[in-house]
Formats: sequence, structure tokens, C-alpha cells
Amino acid sequence: MTSTNDIRRSFLDYFAKADHLEVASAPLVPFSDPTLMFVNAGMVPFKNVFTGRETAPAPRATSSQKCVRAGGKHNDLDNVGYTARHHTFFEMLGNFSFGDYFKEQAVLHAWTLLTKEWQLPADRLTVTVYHTDDEAHGLWRKIAGLPDHRIIRIASTDNFWSMGDTGPCGPCSEIFYDHGDHIAGGPPGSPEEDGDRFVEIWNLVFMQFDQLADGSRSALPAPSIDTGMGLERIAAVMQGVHDNYDIDLFRSLIAASESLTGRKAEGDARASHRVIADHLRSASFLLADGVMPANEGRGYVLRRIMRRAMRHAHLLGAAEPLMHRLVPSLVAEMGQAFPELTRGQPLITEVLEREEIQFRRTLDKGLRLLDEEVARLRPGDELSGETAFRLYDTFGFPYDLTEDALRARGLGVDRSGFDAAMAQQKAAARAAWKGSGETAAQEVWFDIAEREGATEFIGYAATSGEARVQAIVRNAKEVDEASVGDEIRLIVNQTPFYAESGGQVGDSGSIRTDGGMHMTVTDTAKPLGKLHAHHGRVEEGTLRVGDVVHLEVDADRRERVKANHSATHLLHAALRLRLGEHVTQKGSLVAEDRLRFDFSHPKPLTPDDLAAVEAKVNREIRANHTVTTRVMSPSDAVEAGALALFGEKYGDEVRVLSMGGVGEGGRNFSVELCGGTHVNATGDIALLRIVSESAVASGVRRIEALTGDSARKWLVGKEETLKEVAGTLRTTPEEVASRVSALMEEKRRLERELAAARRILAMQDNSEGSSKGDVPADETVGGVRFAGRIYDGLNPKELRPLLDQEKQRLGSGVAVIVAVNDGRATLGAAVTDDLVGQFDAVTLVREGVAMLGGTGGGGRSDLAQGGGPSGSDAAKAIQRIRDILGEAVSA
Ligand code: ALA
Repeated sequence: MTSTNDIRRSFLDYFAKADHLEVASAPLVPFSDPTLMFVNAGMVPFKNVFTGRETAPAPRATSSQKCVRAGGKHNDLDNVGYTARHHTFFEMLGNFSFGDYFKEQAVLHAWTLLTKEWQLPADRLTVTVYHTDDEAHGLWRKIAGLPDHRIIRIASTDNFWSMGDTGPCGPCSEIFYDHGDHIAGGPPGSPEEDGDRFVEIWNLVFMQFDQLADGSRSALPAPSIDTGMGLERIAAVMQGVHDNYDIDLFRSLIAASESLTGRKAEGDARASHRVIADHLRSASFLLADGVMPANEGRGYVLRRIMRRAMRHAHLLGAAEPLMHRLVPSLVAEMGQAFPELTRGQPLITEVLEREEIQFRRTLDKGLRLLDEEVARLRPGDELSGETAFRLYDTFGFPYDLTEDALRARGLGVDRSGFDAAMAQQKAAARAAWKGSGETAAQEVWFDIAEREGATEFIGYAATSGEARVQAIVRNAKEVDEASVGDEIRLIVNQTPFYAESGGQVGDSGSIRTDGGMHMTVTDTAKPLGKLHAHHGRVEEGTLRVGDVVHLEVDADRRERVKANHSATHLLHAALRLRLGEHVTQKGSLVAEDRLRFDFSHPKPLTPDDLAAVEAKVNREIRANHTVTTRVMSPSDAVEAGALALFGEKYGDEVRVLSMGGVGEGGRNFSVELCGGTHVNATGDIALLRIVSESAVASGVRRIEALTGDSARKWLVGKEETLKEVAGTLRTTPEEVASRVSALMEEKRRLERELAAARRILAMQDNSEGSSKGDVPADETVGGVRFAGRIYDGLNPKELRPLLDQEKQRLGSGVAVIVAVNDGRATLGAAVTDDLVGQFDAVTLVREGVAMLGGTGGGGRSDLAQGGGPSGSDAAKAIQRIRDILGEAVSA
């Protein structure tokens, strides 16, 4: 038997040999297609290539594309489990020609692969062509040699394939496999075509047109080929089974759920096992591609799928959560072809288990309510809409789960009653909101949110994408269009623009349409906490509600914001480590050029604290740890050690960001609840530099810091300044410090000298009996004129000229000057010539110096000097000399 994995490989190899580039499956979330909820065909990732907007990766390509058909237009959810060929998840094998080969090659390849390579019996194959496509008809005759009755012309849209209301399209040709006359049904186009005997296995689309929103079609730049073959269907054919759920892949998944539940896939249990196997695939692949269970949008489709499977697990009697235990079997089957499944295994397991534990809390009670209600109904009746709504609102039963639960008992649900109950609840919420005093400007958001639901954020994984315009708001009012110069706030169904929250600034960037409209986005806000309002100005063209727009976030700016956000988490953890657990976040700003973090701490951080915190953060950065994101309930998150913000409102799901090395208890250095965008690994932050620490309120400190290139530029700026200073000082940066302290010392000395010089100048004006400033007047001691002065900071070298000056000034007398420097004193004495016989300058100096704690002194009898260590005794030294003069006279 050829395994499903071998068939996939063989298909891709066949086309690779025929010069097709093998392309990996695109993610299930079509970021670049606003018209789709999930990728639902192999050509979706190439849509823009067919229309000529993007260049082709190669002229020919081949892929096995993951597809989900649940939610949105193609919704197979309700049928899964009860039919042979419905899946919410399947793989589409395809070969593509982007303006390279056309019909003939496409038919030739299909026929060769099926009948030569895979050896399918040609007489089991029947094809259809679009009724007017004579060319295709002729090719099937020529290449396959099929008789006319097995080339069936079909006039309906079945043979004109289009992606949706808009997009590439063209006539198509389908290949059917006849499973044999033991199965009821007739060939396509016959009255019995709905039977299961003839199964479509391959669709060859001859892409020629682009279907436009206004209903018209334009020709594609070049005729192209898009084909799609359901892997599960061809596997059934090649494995000789009729039912897709009997192929190897499903048999192994079902065997796993049989063994875990102890229930054989027979009778009533058969559908449950199929639902579980199918939903396990779609849920796991959606989780691997980043979709998380939520109450709106894609996340709600995922939740519906998960809960539907979980009810079937419950039906099979599984006493414990089941789904997550099946993940290893799925990974064993498909992990090699889809590495994202293997990589995502821990996350998939964790989310499935948590969702099942959570749902099981209300499942029993909900089912009991359902049973009570059902007991009152008869086959053919409908369950009341209010009950279905109660099950939804109180017990978490998605509508289709209730429907599915009643299906087996032949009961329906009153859908309009359910919708009415839902509308009533919304009206009540609106009334409550109106009463809460919100401004009228806010009301417009409420209208939009109620009508459109939350904006889906696709920016964790992308910085560009496509979306459909849901609302344009100008001057707090909704408008249908906006033109050049208009300041608007724009709401779209999905966006890569992060809206300001949790301290992280909103994204900026640009939005364009194919019609030439260009809007610059300066900021993105989050009114009502759920709408992403792109704020900006229309620069060119006209924008209308319903338009498809291309959104482009300023990715460089986003990168810087990401680095600052992750750095803030590391800073928070490092502060707690250094200062203690009392440190909690009080506020933060994460912008593109800096980060600011406010936290509780009673006193300023010391330079040592700051250095230690900065060093720790940088160690974590250099270690380049991977940053991981998990989604869990708030209580599980706190249990896992996440730092939650007290007083913040969290939804039933929170994102938990872990980064940095793993420490005690297996926890990362930093674990925080956070909805922001973050780097992939701490090394992306490059560098953290704290640039300020201050107080913002009593008990609250603020740190401002820079990362990456901003930090580098800041440091370079500091170095430039240092170099400039060194240049001015005529030295090197290394010598600046000692040069500056020498200059400071010099400055102090000059100041002292200047002060001394000023005093001396003042002294020159002195005459006996007058006193100027702080210079004492001359005195007369025992009939001798005497001038005694103390000068702080006077250079001792100045003593001699000063004393000479004094002698001249006095004419007849004795002058004594003490210069005090750094506590030391130098004393000089001068005796005018007429008094030399009477007084000896050397003796006077020696006497004075003794008072200064010194000994000796020398010079001539008219001029001498000496010094001592005790500058503070200068006045005593002068007094001693004054006394000597007095004694000499009285003697
Ligand atoms: N795009 C074509 C399909 O989905 C092949 O059937």
C-alpha cells in the first residue's frame, strides 16, 4: 500500500522533475488576503502572482497546501464525521504555471501522472470540461484518448472555478474516479451525480480572468494553470478504499483515540472518532500557525472546532481530557512533512489540554440542561433559541456544537430565536455602556464594534497584510469615503498595526489601494480595547468603505519598539533581583527611541545598584535566549510565575512572555503577561544603557533607558564630547581627568594669589590710621611705625619685593608680613636703614618663627625670612614681634 506521505512525496517529485519549483505550504492564516478566513485552496498563496501584482517565485511551482474549510464561506464543519469525504482540514496537491504552459501541458501532466506514474486504470477515469471549452475537449481526446462520453461538457459554475467573489478565475476541467458499481451514483452531469460512486479527484483550472468587485472580469496578464487534488481523496483511491477516513493516516489517528478511550469506532462511536481525528488535525495546524482560541474571529472558529471535538471525546466516555494526548500520533503521521507541527507540539498540547479542562467544567452542566430540554421535545422539533443562547453564554457551547448534539436525535435549533437572544444581550450591554458616562465621541466606536466585532491583529507574525475597510471615521462620525487631505481613523477587518496598549506605542506606516489611494498612518489606537483605529491622513486618491487595502507597518520602527519592549521586561526582572520583590511596575512607555519604566521603590538607586541592574540585563541580552510566547488562562499564567499587573483587566486568555536564562524551578529570568510585540531572541536588543534614574512620586522611581542603535548613538555622543574636551585641553581622552584636576588645583592657587594681590594693591593706598578693606592700618609701637600683615595664599617668593615696598612706604619703621600657604607660614621682616642699629631683622624673624612652630630664619639685619608649620599662629607671630618692639622702647 502506498502511504499518504508517499503519495504526497511522489506528486511533488513528479512535478519537481518537470521543472516545477517545490514550494512549502503557506500558513493557514492568509495574511495577504482579506477575503478569506483561512487558506482554502492551493492557489491562495499565489493569488497576487496570477494577477500580476507579485512576481512569480518561478515560472512553474508545485505544493501541498494546508487548507481549512470551517467558518467563513466554505464551511464543512457541520458535515464532518457523518460523510466519507468532508474535512475541516485537508491538503491540496497542486501544480501551477504562471504564464508558462497552459491547457495542453496541464492535461498531459495530469494524465501522465495518474495513468503512467501511478498506474491508475484509465477506464476508471472520466473528465468534465466547461461546455464551451472545445480546446480542452480536444486535448482529452488527443492526449488521453478518452471517448466522447467520458469527456462531459458541464455548463454550470461547477466547471468555471473562481476563488471567491473576486480574484483569479477561469474554466476548469475535473477528473473523476469511478469507485465501482457496488456504490450508488452516476457520472457527473447525470441525475445520479450526487451519489458517491464517481468522486472528483483533480481539478485543472485554466486561469484566464480576474473577477473584479464590480462584477466585470479582466484578462490576466498571461493564461495560467492552477490545479488542485485532495490528498486524502487520492490516497483513498490509491489505497483501494472508498472512504477518506479509511486511509492509513486516519486509521492511525482513529486507532489512537480508540485505544485511549477503549471504544471501537463502530456504531454510534464511529462519527465521534472521525470528528476527533479531523478536528485534531485542523485544531493542531491552526495552533501551529499562530491562531489561538478566542471568542471572536478566527480564534472562535478554532474554539468551535476544539469544543466540538471535546464533546465527542466526552460522548466516547473519556474521563480525562483526550485531545492533547492524541497530538503525538498526529505528529508521528504528519510532523515530517510539516515541521511547524513538530515545532509547535508543546504549544498545541498545552492549549488543547487547557481548553479541554476549561470546557469540561461547564460541559456536564450544559449537557444536563440540554437533556432536560430535549426530554420535552419530539423528533422534528426545534430547541428554543433562548436555550441555545443560554448554552452558548453560560456553558460555552458554540451554536454548532448544540446543533451537532441534537442532530443524532433528529432535532433542530431555532436559529432566529438564538440570534434574537444574542441581539438582546448586545443591546443590554450597550445600554449599560451608555449609562456609564462615556463621551459621544466614543459612541461611534461602539456602533462599529457591535457591527464588525473586534479587529483581528495579525501583527505578531507580520508587518504587512491586506484587509477590507469596515469603517472610516472623520470628526467622530462614520463616513462612506475619504479623500485627499482628510484626517481619518480607519477600521479594517484585520491588521498588522499594533494599537497602543500596555505602554507600547501604536504602529505607524502606510495604507494603499490598487486604485491609487495612499494614506499615511501616524498612530494606531485601540478604542474600546478591541478596535484598531489607524489614525492618519489621506495623501492621494479616495478611500471607500469596502475597499481592499494593503497595510504596511513601518517595520524598522516596529523593530526598535520590540527591542525596547523586551528590554523593559528584562529591566523589570533585574530590578526585582537586585532590589527585592517589592519592586512592581507602576507604569511604562515603550517607544521607538527609548523606554521608560516606573516602579515602586522607596529610595533612589545607588550608582552600584544601577550598574548591577544594567550589567545583569546586558548579560541576558548577550546570552541571546529565545523569547517564547504562550497563551493560557490568567490563573495558570500566575501559577507559572508570570508577573501580572494588579488591577489590570485580563480576558480569559492571556499571552505569557518568557525570556532570559532558566533559573530555579525551571522558570525563565523574566515571565510576564503581555500583549505586546517582542524580539525573537534577547540578542536582538543588542545593548541596554540606563540614562537616568529619578523620582516620579513618593515611593515610585523612574528609569529611562536606551537600547540597540539608540544606546550606541548615545554612547558615541558621549565619546565625541570627551574627544572635544580633550582637544580643548590639548590632551588625550585618557588624560582628561588628571588634566582637569591639575587645572582645578591651578585655579584654586591662582584664586588665592589673586586675592593676595588685591590685598596688596589695597595696602599700597594705606596710610596710618586709615584702614581699607581687610588690610589693617599701620600702627606706632613705642614711637616706631610698624606694619604687620598676614596674607593667605601669598606666594613666599613675593615676600622680598613686598617688604622692600613696605620699607619705602614707611620711610622709617618695621614691617612684618606672613604668607600662609596650605597651613604653612613664611614670615618676613624688614627694618628701615635708620633703625637697623636698634632692631635686627634676623632676630625678629627668629622670634616670630618660633611662634609658628619653626626654628631658624635668615637674611640680613634689614631684611630676613623664615618659616614654620603652624600657619594658624600667624597672628601670634606678629604679636610677638610687636611685643619685642614695645619692650625695646620701654627698656
Ligand atoms: N483552485 C482549484 C480548486 O480549489 C484547483 O479546486
